Amino acid sequence: MQFFALLAFFAVFASRVLALQITVAPMGNVSANQFLDVSDQTVKTNCQDSCAPANTAINACTDDTCLCDTATLTAITACQQCMFNDLIHRFATSDDPRVGSSPALAAYTTACNLSATTAKEFVLAPPSDWNGPFGQGLNTAATAFGVALALFLGIGCITVVNTM
Ligand SMILES: *[C@@H]1O[C@H](CO)[C@@H](O)[C@H](O)[C@H]1NC(C)=O
Ligand SMILES: *[C@@H]1O[C@H](CO)[C@@H](O)[C@H](O)[C@H]1NC(C)=O
Repeated sequence: MQFFALLAFFAVFASRVLALQITVAPMGNVSANQFLDVSDQTVKTNCQDSCAPANTAINACTDDTCLCDTATLTAITACQQCMFNDLIHRFATSDDPRVGSSPALAAYTTACNLSATTAKEFVLAPPSDWNGPFGQGLNTAATAFGVALALFLGIGCITVVNTM
């Protein structure tokens, strides 16, 4: 009895491992259920709501057809888009190549053998409130702090020179 339970467990486990392999450089192959299981806890928390439908969709799939259907891919793209926006808004980068990443998303559509035309529907766009490299992620408080810090350091340098 226990033996069969164990066997069933490994059968399930093996089928999970054999399912869709996404080649995410430089990580190597990840399975679909690891694709959104990112190590960046901040982004994971911030995008919990946007990524929940994608995680639910992936976990409900039992074959590659389901993992690659429009509904699943749309949910995954929404999750990636949230992580992408979050990084930009926080002016952050991530060590995890799966976080808000166009190449990772492209790797997923490649693993699904999507045609170039279909794959184009699942890409990341710059956040709608993104206003170029200057305003990006710098709110007024951060800018004021930066100016104050620069002033402080500048005055510090002058003081050092004057007392020498
Ligand atoms: C990664 O997945 C690809 C596509 O399924 C496969 O061709 C390749 O052998 C895999 N590589 C490893 C290291 O498992
Ligand atoms: C994509 O194509 C490769 C090679 O023909 C095949 O092994 C793989 O199962 C296909 N993947 C899907 C999701 O259909």
